Amino acid sequence: MKVCVIGGAGYIGSHTVYELIDAGHEVVVVDNLSTGLRDAVHKKAAFYEGDITDFRALDEIIAHESSKKPFGVAMHFAAKIVVPESVKNPSLYYYNNVEGVRTMLDVMVKHNIKNIIFSSTAAVYGEAKEGVCTEESETKPINPYGETKLASEKMIDWFARAYGMNYCIFRYFNVAGAHKTLEIGLLRDHLTHIVPVTIQTALGIRKKMTVFGGDYDTEDGTCVRDYIHVSDIAYAHVLGMKHIAEKNVSEVINLGSNQGFSVKNIISEVEKHYPVNHEYGARREGDPAKLIASNKRAKEILGWMPKRDLAEIILSDLQFRIKHKK
Ligand code: UFG
Repeated sequence: MKVCVIGGAGYIGSHTVYELIDAGHEVVVVDNLSTGLRDAVHKKAAFYEGDITDFRALDEIIAHESSKKPFGVAMHFAAKIVVPESVKNPSLYYYNNVEGVRTMLDVMVKHNIKNIIFSSTAAVYGEAKEGVCTEESETKPINPYGETKLASEKMIDWFARAYGMNYCIFRYFNVAGAHKTLEIGLLRDHLTHIVPVTIQTALGIRKKMTVFGGDYDTEDGTCVRDYIHVSDIAYAHVLGMKHIAEKNVSEVINLGSNQGFSVKNIISEVEKHYPVNHEYGARREGDPAKLIASNKRAKEILGWMPKRDLAEIILSDLQFRIKHKK
């Protein structure tokens, strides 16, 4: 299938492009390179620099590519994703994450692209009452980032009804790790996510890290999350795309491991390799205590299960950072 990947130079987007190409698909990447890297785009993918909120630019790219061969599906990765940044700057998040999706959908309607794969997040669940979220759990975000993703999910559903589109909305839990070739991984300035922050501290790239809160209502007092390898996430997109296009259906699917690990567990896992200089500090705004995915639906519908565990996630990110010195 011919696939348009918007945000395909970013972290999860670039890994998905690798999986799509490995599976024999034709890929066109559009990315504004605000956080993505040109070098992260697979050499076999076509690349266009363009912004998801720019209707004219997207329209032109899609028109040009569609005239050669029409697209079967479009994938969305072009989002702002940092929870504390969204709390400080909600306007940026609403503009990029919601207006961006509306623009992408308008272009898809104009060019008759019927299938969309959308990157959503566990943050749509907010403070999950049960700790383990199924796709039926209440959606009640506690930060602007989660709100913008939930708003986009609803918009996609209304567009799908109005224009006969299919969608696969993936709600990612905590994505980490790097590609097996160590060519691509999470590279950007000012990383805030726990896995790279802990590993950068272990490698001496950072002097010290802070654990945000040791007084949560969890077993060891630190927040619990569900960590999932980026290549497992990426492969789910190949399966999801095939499923919705062939069966003409729409789905909302969690992508997680069914298992929770605390911040303390992450530090201990990294400390199997190198010591981590850390201290305890105040809670970070917008952080729920515990978020774990039920991945039953992914297994039932797509036959998807994560293949890599926490040890492999940590090791791959560690090796990637040693190689790239970042
Ligand atoms: N944390 C620290 N110190 C740090 C960085 C993070 O203690 O230096 C803690 C956070 O307070 C939190 C946990 O580590 O308790 C995980 O934080 P991350 O920033 O790594 O990730 P989040 O859980 O905030 O968010 C991530 C993604 C979202 C997604 C969410 C789903 O960024 O897109 O996981 O669980 F929605």
